[in-house]
Amino acid sequence: MHICRTVADVRSLVAGLRAEGRSVGLVTTMGALHDGHLALVAEARGLYDAVVTTIFVNPTQFGNPQDLDAYPRTEAEDLAKFEAAGVAGCFVPEVGEMYPDGDETIVETTRLAGLFHGAVRPGHFRGVATVVCKLFNIVQPDGAFFGQKDYQQLAVIRRMVTDLHMPLAIHGVATVREADGLAMSSRNVRLSPEDRAAAPVLARALDAAEALAARGATVEEVAGVIREMVEAEPRATLAGLDIVDAGRFLPASGPVTSPVGIMLSAEFGPPDNRVLLIDQRELTPQGA
Ligand code: PAF
Repeated sequence: MHICRTVADVRSLVAGLRAEGRSVGLVTTMGALHDGHLALVAEARGLYDAVVTTIFVNPTQFGNPQDLDAYPRTEAEDLAKFEAAGVAGCFVPEVGEMYPDGDETIVETTRLAGLFHGAVRPGHFRGVATVVCKLFNIVQPDGAFFGQKDYQQLAVIRRMVTDLHMPLAIHGVATVREADGLAMSSRNVRLSPEDRAAAPVLARALDAAEALAARGATVEEVAGVIREMVEAEPRATLAGLDIVDAGRFLPASGPVTSPVGIMLSAEFGPPDNRVLLIDQRELTPQGA
């Protein structure tokens, strides 16, 4: 596997793959890899001839410097995992390579970036869209893969690709879970054993919501059961619960007559080491 530190390195790797007539799938990450990332790679390998990955802890998507500093960095292990997964090359740039001196260009999905998760983390989705746009321009893949767990992030990226006429396919990949249902996340390693044991409440609340919706419950009833279950867990502080119309990404209400996305987040841990976990579920109307 090629390890590329500069834009020029990764462009020359991709040019070589193209010269051999190979299609290229991209998996972007911030490292601290878990099986969820490797599921993205596996999916990409199934659809494209070669897979290029990236590891870059993007400072512009962190509102809080402590969160950026606390983000786990495990480059050597990550590279070994990518190599074992059959990745052709991994781009691992420094901040200065991604944000050149004097950098002043940003990409923002103006409506989506300010909603829901974006309202509590101002600037987050601007940072994500900007870095993902840069990575798409650098690698120029045929397709790119993102986890459905980051439901709003996926919507932001799809919007950006449509609006900026970017010539690639975006693939959303189902969330990979631990045996007890907890969605895999690089943040899970920061949980204390007690918080780790409490964290599957998010998945259980979403399971209950899905079962309720299957019996014809309204969006309000679904929201009520999720809130009740998360609030009953003393180690969790509910941070966000939004149920949106999956097509328009606007708040949903009443009976579930078209697909809706539930975005749920909660904080765990003491004030000096809060860990924000998110989870998501898409509900389809009964009989659809
Ligand atoms: O989902 C992530 O890991 C990041 O937000 C991404 C897409 C790699 C951009 O930094």
